[in-house]
Amino acid sequence: MSFYSQDLVEEIRARSDIVDVISSYIKLQRKGSNYVGVCPFHNDRNPSMSVNQPRQIYHCFSCGAGGDVFKFVMEYENLTFPEAMKVLAERAGISLPKRETSKEARQQADIKAQIMEMNKLAAKFYYYTLRQPAGKVGLDYLLRRQLSQETIHRFGLGYADQYSNSLYQYLKNKGYSDQLLKESGLVQADEKRGMYDKFWNRVIFPIMDIRNRVIGFGGRVMGDGKPKYLNSPETKVFDKSRNLYGLHLARLSRKPNIILCEGYMDVIAMHQAGFPQAVASLGTAFTVQQSAILKRYTNEVLLTYDNDEAGVRAALRAIPILRDAGLSAKIINMEPYKDPDEFIKAMGAESFQKRIDEAESSFSFELRTMERQYDFEEPESKTAFYKALSEKLLTYEQGIERNNYIQAAAKRYHLGYEELSDMVNRIGKHLGGLTRAPAPTKPISQRKRPEDLSLRSQRLLITFMSSEERMFLAVRRYVEPEEFTDPLCRKVAELLEEQQKKGHLNPAALFQYFTEEEDQQNLSAMLHGTPLALSGKEEEKKALQETILRVKQSSIAYQMTHMDPNNVEMLQKIIQKRREIEKLHISLD
Ligand code: CTP
Ligand code: MN
Repeated sequence: MSFYSQDLVEEIRARSDIVDVISSYIKLQRKGSNYVGVCPFHNDRNPSMSVNQPRQIYHCFSCGAGGDVFKFVMEYENLTFPEAMKVLAERAGISLPKRETSKEARQQADIKAQIMEMNKLAAKFYYYTLRQPAGKVGLDYLLRRQLSQETIHRFGLGYADQYSNSLYQYLKNKGYSDQLLKESGLVQADEKRGMYDKFWNRVIFPIMDIRNRVIGFGGRVMGDGKPKYLNSPETKVFDKSRNLYGLHLARLSRKPNIILCEGYMDVIAMHQAGFPQAVASLGTAFTVQQSAILKRYTNEVLLTYDNDEAGVRAALRAIPILRDAGLSAKIINMEPYKDPDEFIKAMGAESFQKRIDEAESSFSFELRTMERQYDFEEPESKTAFYKALSEKLLTYEQGIERNNYIQAAAKRYHLGYEELSDMVNRIGKHLGGLTRAPAPTKPISQRKRPEDLSLRSQRLLITFMSSEERMFLAVRRYVEPEEFTDPLCRKVAELLEEQQKKGHLNPAALFQYFTEEEDQQNLSAMLHGTPLALSGKEEEKKALQETILRVKQSSIAYQMTHMDPNNVEMLQKIIQKRREIEKLHISLD
């Protein structure tokens, strides 16, 4: 989605060599046919970022960031696409036409972009209101909570005034329709009151994504009113399970860990006290997607959940999720305070650092909370505890991992390693005989399911197809874009076809068709894969043939499972196709 013509975008791209542009931000070194450098998008010291000059794309093998030259400038400078266009055009000495901002043009633009724009306007509006006489109550509240002006500014905090439709009026005057206003989650509607603001009489915490775009808001009452916090609903741009409050700052903190807590105020208090690696999940339980995101930036997560029963429960739920993502987890003890905000206020930053240094391993934390449910003076209760302990140990992957934990537990309870190990095995056998074996604890990504294999083949085929025209044509003779069952791969195959028909393949130009970070990263990984050379070697031919077959077969399998079972005609068609594939002779000459 762009406000400029495709020709202009391509002209700027042609005049902005990706190696030149990226070199002006970070140091690149030549390595074989690629360039490598230290990735600026996560905390790293190794040259994990690779820049491919012939394809004009970059990709980080550690955090997954990747894209074309526009994407790099957008990410690095936190710009929107038109803004990045401007930067690169200026650099290349190309003058841009005035941007089309008529109402129609706006209406045609993507809804997502419009919601982002409304969020940005709303954030500015709240920020401005906080600094007006009407906003004094809000500002006083924040200052009373010991936030500095600088902190208030850095987090873009604001204030929604006492009237229930100030923001509605403001955005309405900017030309946004009621329908769009509702979609943004900033405004609600009901029959009695008509349109009214979601937030009023609250201090406002804008929520940013990693590119510093405002995707939603939290609002807190300034006293004891209820509910204490109100949050934006999920919208086309706000997915609570895939974002973390404060990550846009934390990811650049260059600290050896990330601190995960529960609240907006906790994040802000920690940043202010010199712990800019703090993030919070957004008023919901910590998710698998969030753990995968954290893994891009760090290997260690420190938990500072509230020091109450709910907080302990939340921590116990988060620990296995972190562990499955390959993150080591530790728990910061905040006794006798409730949360990091209160701890830091009472004890100061140095004491907090000390608590970080003394953080407890997640395993020890799990055992300690388990211990509390048993009475070690009671023989029966003690036996029950050992049984529960063994069951817990059985949840770890058999082998070195489980042995390490058995060793740690044996030491903790003054048991012999053999003794505990025997007990675990005995209970394991017993459980195995009676119930199902414990669920595997391997990360999902390492389990080879048929869908994974199919997805891998599809992505690999895209890697091949995007490498050179000859390869594209060779594959295209056998595979239709519709045969890709993965939506991203299908779309990319269609786009490549369009490019090829219009003249030449242009992998870097593919990025602008995808707005989701996840899609862009997957695309970047595909375009950075090692393509086949098609040098005529037997094993290369074979690899390509097999990949083509697998993609075609999984397309058939997909159709079989998704068709109407009563549609006999369709079934016959599919069976016919399957026969054809079995007989297919793929020749690449
Ligand atoms: N939360 C929420 N809705 C509520 C209460 C809490 O969404 N009604 C979320 C918010 O994201 C909040 C977090 O849960 O930041 C933690 O809540 P809580 O521990 O109650 O608040 P604190 O962060 O301690 O907030 P404060 O210090 O402002 O009282
Ligand atoms: Mn608090």
